[in-house]
Amino acid sequence: MNRRETLIARVIAGYRAAYGADPEQLFAAPGRVNLIGEHVDYNDGFVLPCAIDRETIIALGEGDGAQFEAVALDMGAQARDSFALDAPIARIEGEWQNHLRGVVHFVQAGGYGVRPARIAVAGDVPIGAGLSSSASLGVAAALAVSAHSGLGLNPAQLARIAQAAENDFVGCACGIMDQMASAASVAGAALLLDCRTLATRAVPIHPDLAITVIDSGIRRHLTQSAFNQRRAECEAAAAHYGVAALRDCDPAQLEAGRGGLDPVLFARARHVVSEIGRVAPFAAALTGGDTAMIARLLGEGHCSLAEDFAVSLPALDRLAGLVQAALGTAGGVRLTGAGFGGCLVAVSQAAALPALDEVVARYNADAVQPARIEGFRPAGGAARIGL
Ligand code: GLA
Repeated sequence: MNRRETLIARVIAGYRAAYGADPEQLFAAPGRVNLIGEHVDYNDGFVLPCAIDRETIIALGEGDGAQFEAVALDMGAQARDSFALDAPIARIEGEWQNHLRGVVHFVQAGGYGVRPARIAVAGDVPIGAGLSSSASLGVAAALAVSAHSGLGLNPAQLARIAQAAENDFVGCACGIMDQMASAASVAGAALLLDCRTLATRAVPIHPDLAITVIDSGIRRHLTQSAFNQRRAECEAAAAHYGVAALRDCDPAQLEAGRGGLDPVLFARARHVVSEIGRVAPFAAALTGGDTAMIARLLGEGHCSLAEDFAVSLPALDRLAGLVQAALGTAGGVRLTGAGFGGCLVAVSQAAALPALDEVVARYNADAVQPARIEGFRPAGGAARIGL
C-alpha cells in the first residue's frame, strides 16, 4: 500500500469502528509548504505556496437526526464530537473540534443548509510543523460539508470558510494563504496567489529543481505564538501610512513616510514590503531554473524574517546557514511558514540533494532537537477521492 492507500484504510477502519457502518464518500485536502511570500497574506500581498503530498482525509456517511458527528483518529481514543445542526453552534475547549464546528457554522452563516453527517478524520500532515495541518483539516471539512449538502462551493469559497473557522472559532488570526493552497493548488506546480483578489496562477517548476523541507523538529503552537501580535503590528503600520494594507506601500513610500513610526513597526512593514517584491522574481526563477537567483531571494527572505519580522530562532538560523553554505549557487533555503520553529524549505538543483543529507547529519551531531529531511511532491488541491 502506498501512503494514501494506508491513510484511506485507516480512516475507513476508524469510521466503521465509530459508527458500525461503511462510509459513503471520501474527501482529501493537502498541507502546503510556502516557497516565498511569508507573513504577507494578511497584508493583501502575493504568496507562492505549493501543496504537498501529505493530507487530511475525511470519510463521510449520512447522519442521524439533525446531528453532525465526528471522530478524529489522530487525537486519541476519546476524540469524538457531536453537535446539533438546528441550534447555534458553540465553540468548545478543543482545537480540532472548533475547526469543524467553525466550518459548519460558517457554511450555515452563508445561508446554506447543512445535511446531517457522520465523519471520521485522519491525516498525515505533521502537526505543528508549519505545513498547514490545520488548513488541510478545515478545507477537507468544508469540501465534505459542501459536497454532502449539494452546495457546490468553489475552492475560494471553501478556503474563506476554513479561514473564518480558524479566525473565529480557533482564535488564530491567520491569513488566506494556507487554505487557498490546500483548496486550489495544481499538481506539479506552485500556486501564485494574490491574497487581495484571490486570483491564482499555477507556476511551473523547472524539471531540474527539487523542493526539500527540512523539519527542525522544534514545535510551536501558532495560536499561542506571537502570530496575532505580528498581524496587529502590520495593521498598525498600515494605519500609520494611511493605506488599507501594507501591500499598498512601495519601498520609497515606506522610507518617505517613516516619520513618527515606532522602529519595531517600521521593521515589520519593511519585511512585508520587501518580501512582496521578492515573489514575482522568484516565480520567474522557479520556472527558469535560475538557482543563483533563487539562492539570493530565499537568503534575503530568511534574513528579513529573522531580523525585521523577528520570527526565527537561533537554531533555525544556524541550520539555514549550514544548508546555504552547502548549496552555494545550486539553490537556496529559508524559514517557511509562521516561524518560531517548524521547517525550512530548500529549492535547489536535484543534483545537490546529497549535500543536504550531509549538512543535516552534521547539524544533528550537536543539536538539542534533531532535524529531519522530508521529500514532498507538489500536489493538487482538495478533491473528492474514490472509496
Ligand atoms: C501561517 C498562517 C498563514 C500565513 C503564514 C505566514 O501559516 O496561517 O496565513 O500568515 O503563517 O506566511
